[in-house]
Amino acid sequence: MEKKWWHKSVVYQIYPRSFNDTNGDGIGDIQGIIRKLDYLNELGIDVIWLSPVYKSPNDDNGYDISDYEDIMDEFGTMQDMDMLILEAKKRGIKIVMDLVLNHTSDEHKWFIESRKSIDNSYRDYYIWRDKPNNIKSTFSGSAWQYDETTNQYYLHIFSKKQPDLNWENEIVRNKLYDMINFWIDKGVGGFRLDVIDLVGKEIDNEILGNGPKLHDYIQEMNVKTFGKHDMLTVGETWGATPEIAKMYSDQKRNEFSMIFQFEHILLDQQEGKEKWDLKPLELKDLKRVLSKWQIELTEEDGWNSLFWNNHDLPRIISRWGNDTSEELRVLSGKMLATLLHGMKGTPYIYQGEEIGMTNIKYESLDDYRDIELINMYNERIKEGYCHDDIMNSIYSKGRDNARTPMQWDDSNNSGFTTSKEPWIKVNSNYRTVNVKKALDDKESIFYHYKKLIQVRKEHETIIYGDYKLILEDNNQVFAYLRQLNEEKILVICNFYNTEVEIDLSKENLGCTKEIMLSNYNDTKLDINKILLRPYEAIMYKL
Ligand code: NOJ
Repeated sequence: MEKKWWHKSVVYQIYPRSFNDTNGDGIGDIQGIIRKLDYLNELGIDVIWLSPVYKSPNDDNGYDISDYEDIMDEFGTMQDMDMLILEAKKRGIKIVMDLVLNHTSDEHKWFIESRKSIDNSYRDYYIWRDKPNNIKSTFSGSAWQYDETTNQYYLHIFSKKQPDLNWENEIVRNKLYDMINFWIDKGVGGFRLDVIDLVGKEIDNEILGNGPKLHDYIQEMNVKTFGKHDMLTVGETWGATPEIAKMYSDQKRNEFSMIFQFEHILLDQQEGKEKWDLKPLELKDLKRVLSKWQIELTEEDGWNSLFWNNHDLPRIISRWGNDTSEELRVLSGKMLATLLHGMKGTPYIYQGEEIGMTNIKYESLDDYRDIELINMYNERIKEGYCHDDIMNSIYSKGRDNARTPMQWDDSNNSGFTTSKEPWIKVNSNYRTVNVKKALDDKESIFYHYKKLIQVRKEHETIIYGDYKLILEDNNQVFAYLRQLNEEKILVICNFYNTEVEIDLSKENLGCTKEIMLSNYNDTKLDINKILLRPYEAIMYKL
């Protein structure tokens, strides 16, 4: 196994629109990110994944790109972007760009041409048919949009302003590769590839994810772009199993560094239904799923990404933790961080996670901004669902939970903007949950994350050690052992707000040498018969 620099990295995801606004228009910008680089350096991360900053009409907040080689006006200019890459580099931080290759905006010049006539030279850049089939859009309704000019339908798996590119067309693929090389030449450190498992689709057979040509395309892209460089690449793949993950991330196959798999994220969704159709979370499922990925995907034939959050997902404290009191928010936030950061893989921290930001509950739908949830609301109302049930799904799963402005301090609008109206309302808990407060308090969630990042850098066991689930049948505690040569690290996490006694004497673990980290400050070193307190999380060296 060849060791890679990104095995040791911790990535921080920035959703620029909600991060930091410096020109007072209520929308975050690139200069705002530059001003916070020292803060990120203090946290200890070494890579930033930047959600899209390209030119875009913002139907899906930048995931609808109208020019891949230009910057969105609200975010700044290409000079700002060059400055960000440079300033980050000075601090040892690499910038990973988001690559949206499955679709463009309908305002991209390729699509403007494509829709003009059937014999336009760009026609075949997109997917046009005389009749729609049954494919549904992720953002509700049919995935086909009728276009009067040529009396045909084009495919859009996401919004109708996000037409899907035709990957079967070699010219399209090569243009995308040229664009990727444009960014490589600018000195970026890698790419996150948006819904990449869709690009091998076979539309007429209604095959979307994991199509037959998918891996040929990725290998071709690898050879023609980032494969020649030492970069971090991570593909977003919703339907991946460990077997599929190996196809992408086995270094011998020349595809990506790793993928995002979502099996642990789908645990509160009823099987075969949509993400809005909720079911209660069960710890035993989380233990089964995360342990499976830890054991089946090792550095020999793949690599894991580790994440709780991103810009599409609800905040983890409101999901697996407890946001009902300040004390429980802090305890559960640290517990969840400990569980994830003790595992094997590259951890990703989503902006605000490091201070324990929580979900939002706006009373009115008018305060929501996300096209996915607004379309879903309208569709379900038409289908006869009741308003309250739909709002409950939005409170649990809506993407705007992750997109409220970053909470920097307790001044108006959390210090995110000087404008009276940020593009989306700030979470009202910003006076208690904010960066300034977290930095002033040595016991904050922020310093717990910082410590976890340091501990990872100092212990190869966390990076490469074997993983073993302990107390498999316990329904309240998630515990596991990591081992590399003689060094053993034990992680114990109580997932609930009640005490629980555990007995590790039968596990033959040996003696505990040191408490590396805990979310209570009087944790005992003895692991035989421990009474774990609410959300207690401990990392021991054995
Ligand atoms: C996945 C992205 O994470 C999400 O935000 C976006 O809406 C879709 N892909 C479409 O690009």
